[in-house]
Amino acid sequence: MRDPFIWAVATAAYQIEGGRETDGRTPSMWDAIREIPGRIKDGSSKEMSCEGRKKYKEDVKLIKSLGVTHYRFSIDWSRVMKNGKTRNPTGMEYYKDLCRELRKEGIQCIVNLFHADLPLDLYNEGSWLTEEIIPYFVQFARYCYEELHEFVSIWVTFNEIRMHAWAGVVKVEGEPFHSLDIDYKKFLGEVSVARAVMVASRNMLLAHAKVYRLFHEKNDACRVGIILGGHACFDADGETVSSVSERATKSMVHLYLDPLLHPSNDWTGGVREYLGEDLPPWSEEEKKLIKNTVDVMCFNYYRPHIVKEGKGPSLVEQIFNFTMVDDDWPKIGGDSSWVRLHPQGLISLMEGLRGKEGEQKYPNVPILISENGVNDDPSLNSLDDTNRIRYIGEHIDAILEARRRGVNVIGYTAWSLMDNLEWDDGFEVRFGLFQVNLESEEKTRTPKRSAEWYKKKIEKERREEDQ
Ligand code: NOJ
Repeated sequence: MRDPFIWAVATAAYQIEGGRETDGRTPSMWDAIREIPGRIKDGSSKEMSCEGRKKYKEDVKLIKSLGVTHYRFSIDWSRVMKNGKTRNPTGMEYYKDLCRELRKEGIQCIVNLFHADLPLDLYNEGSWLTEEIIPYFVQFARYCYEELHEFVSIWVTFNEIRMHAWAGVVKVEGEPFHSLDIDYKKFLGEVSVARAVMVASRNMLLAHAKVYRLFHEKNDACRVGIILGGHACFDADGETVSSVSERATKSMVHLYLDPLLHPSNDWTGGVREYLGEDLPPWSEEEKKLIKNTVDVMCFNYYRPHIVKEGKGPSLVEQIFNFTMVDDDWPKIGGDSSWVRLHPQGLISLMEGLRGKEGEQKYPNVPILISENGVNDDPSLNSLDDTNRIRYIGEHIDAILEARRRGVNVIGYTAWSLMDNLEWDDGFEVRFGLFQVNLESEEKTRTPKRSAEWYKKKIEKERREEDQ
């Protein structure tokens, strides 16, 4: 008998809680980003937030009203560790309260330790470019474990590790920019920016592995995962995988998956020849440390990529010699949205891990879809979000069908519980099942049509699973 399917909804600490609080929280990288004039597209001030911390009891009721079994949220490192280094029990108390409240309502916790934001001091000391950050991350994780383990069903170390390494540490021409502009040469000397990105990647993978080992020492039955962006790449028809699309997927997914799970337990062939000297090697000891440190493989999925040969403008395209091209999949979140409706991309990605008939490329680790969703379509009334219902519905159906065919997918997570800070897009790009009125003092939450729909969909699928 398989465990019941996980039905979840997600948020991230900084996105709903913001930075301003008087519980001993210290400044973070995103506080500093938001203070730079012109950086946040909607011009919202650093003080603006959904007040997730103050309104957690009400929010747990919203979560409950969806009928989900799990809530995925993250812990703000800057809140629970002053300057990223010293325990702050007042800050931790809030997360304990949140967990207690969720438990009262019978909702299990998927707790994500790192979701895009870093204590500002640690950023300035070199962020993920130096190994010195690793023990601080382990200390933070240890504190979270000690205080929260009795509530947590799945731990997740990093959200979208690739996205953070390529966009959240140093400024990389042509890639999204989600950080401050650290001078990486101060920490690494005269190396290429690709090397800096890969050193950051390596340090995060090591930090993940250390936390995995620590948690398993404490309780070997605990489940620890890591989130990758589900960047499935295809040729123009959206189905065929040729050498260029395979290479593109390797550059964005397998680059991270392979040291963790591939039997070689190393950077693999498909990435080595392209990154060359920029790929920092693993020692034998590190390889042992990192090997198979994934109990749950998590993917955030929003769209596939269509690629062709030839170098596009971004660093990853330059290195791996491919170009992302526009595609014909429905935009579904309005003209300026980057989200696309193509559930098959996710299914192919999951099936790709199994390899061909009979050949298991990777260990058959359970897969959790840790984020999936779409922004409001500006041409629709935000509360009548039929685009979201279609998008989420088609993904759920495809995922459940894949599960029936034997894909080891154990759960689905809708992004997001409520409209929130969509990073540099500010609050104008809204992914919530609940609308948040930021103008109101109360930051009033109102269910969109998708909230009621998600509840019914979960009820229906749970009934069918029970039969
Ligand atoms: C993935 C990120 O984890 C999350 O923070 C973001 O809001 C969503 N994508 C939507 O862009």
